[in-house]
Amino acid sequence: MQLQCSEPCEASNQELREDRVCANCGAPLELVPERPSLSAEALRALWSGRRSSIEPADRSGVWRFRELLPAITERLADIVTIGEGNTPVLRGMATAKYAGVADLSIKHLGWNPTGSFKDTGMTVAVTRAAARGAKVVACASTGNTAASMAAYAARAGMKARVFLPRAVAAAKVAQAEAYGAELVRVGDNFDDALTEMLEGADPTTYVLNSLNPFRVAGQKTFIIELLEQLGWQVPDVIALPGGNLGNLAACGAALDDAMALGLITRRPRLAVIQAEGANPFARMWKSGAERLTPVSNPTTIASAIRIGAPVSWRNAARALRATGGTAIDVNDEAIAEARRVIGRDGIGCELGSAAALAGVKVLRDSGWLSEQERVICLLTGHLLKEPGTGDGSGNHAESHAHAGARC
Ligand code: F0G
Repeated sequence: MQLQCSEPCEASNQELREDRVCANCGAPLELVPERPSLSAEALRALWSGRRSSIEPADRSGVWRFRELLPAITERLADIVTIGEGNTPVLRGMATAKYAGVADLSIKHLGWNPTGSFKDTGMTVAVTRAAARGAKVVACASTGNTAASMAAYAARAGMKARVFLPRAVAAAKVAQAEAYGAELVRVGDNFDDALTEMLEGADPTTYVLNSLNPFRVAGQKTFIIELLEQLGWQVPDVIALPGGNLGNLAACGAALDDAMALGLITRRPRLAVIQAEGANPFARMWKSGAERLTPVSNPTTIASAIRIGAPVSWRNAARALRATGGTAIDVNDEAIAEARRVIGRDGIGCELGSAAALAGVKVLRDSGWLSEQERVICLLTGHLLKEPGTGDGSGNHAESHAHAGARC
């Protein structure tokens, strides 16, 4: 298992600390892929065989694919799992009609143990933190990472410290509290909270933000699980919401693995959707700029993706280039409308997730996507994370308590 800078830079090993960005150039770090020597057929048989096992690591929808994960621990008993992954793929009806495509399915990552896709990466990163003997873990978060980290840290007997900007969905704060995390309310948005957390973290604190390469490694597995659920038939487009862009980077890396191992023979196009008021990456993509210009005061009702300076933009751009994908933005009205349509399919999701469907509609209307193409929407968070409308009507429960204070 070896770390490298995600950019072609001359960083020395000392400059590659897994809980930080590259000290030489500021890009995120990544794990050098170590792919198994088994054939695609052997891997498929191994993974599907584990479904009938009673071993918790085999039953986890992440660790079932452990040939694709970094070798962190020899003993399965050392894995920190609470039954993550194994999320369904559901046929969309109202959603397909709304988007104007014949074949749309939803992979609902919000049906993970703490209600978001974050669990698929957190199980790996907390297992890594435990293997390194970490006693304290920390993250900045728009809420879901905080809830997930708090749960897995509790499970591993670690202290969790979460840095949350002032406006975060109340249910996510309540989750982190219920799992026993220390909450630090700081700054107006995620970017401020991240800066504060990184500046304050002493060397004994293990940082679990999405720049942590073990989280990205874990998140890769839901793409493999999706492909397995589709009988290894590759869809045409996978659409997902984008904030810090770690998830898009993980999807790209998963497709690289799947291609390299012969599990698939072509890549689906990845389409990442940002909120209009927090759209630095969509802007960069549209303009063809080489570098990302942050948005200094991100605003959107979709608090999960209210991020102005995404850390993983370089790997995200690479994933789009490798798949012929795209990045667009959608406005808050479109996000709220898409969420209502997802509700009509009896599925539901949090606002940030609904951006994916809103984006598919825009891509269909613009002709980027044809009616006959097979589309998968990744819904990233559960409806109960944020049941209100997020329009300030009072129906949306945001917590502003203890602003700027440790609580
Ligand atoms: N969807 C949900 C529900 C999220 O919580 C997030 C990010 C995203 C999408 C975007 O994923 O950042 O990898 O592009 N939430 C982070 C958090 C930032 O702190 O919970 P991304």
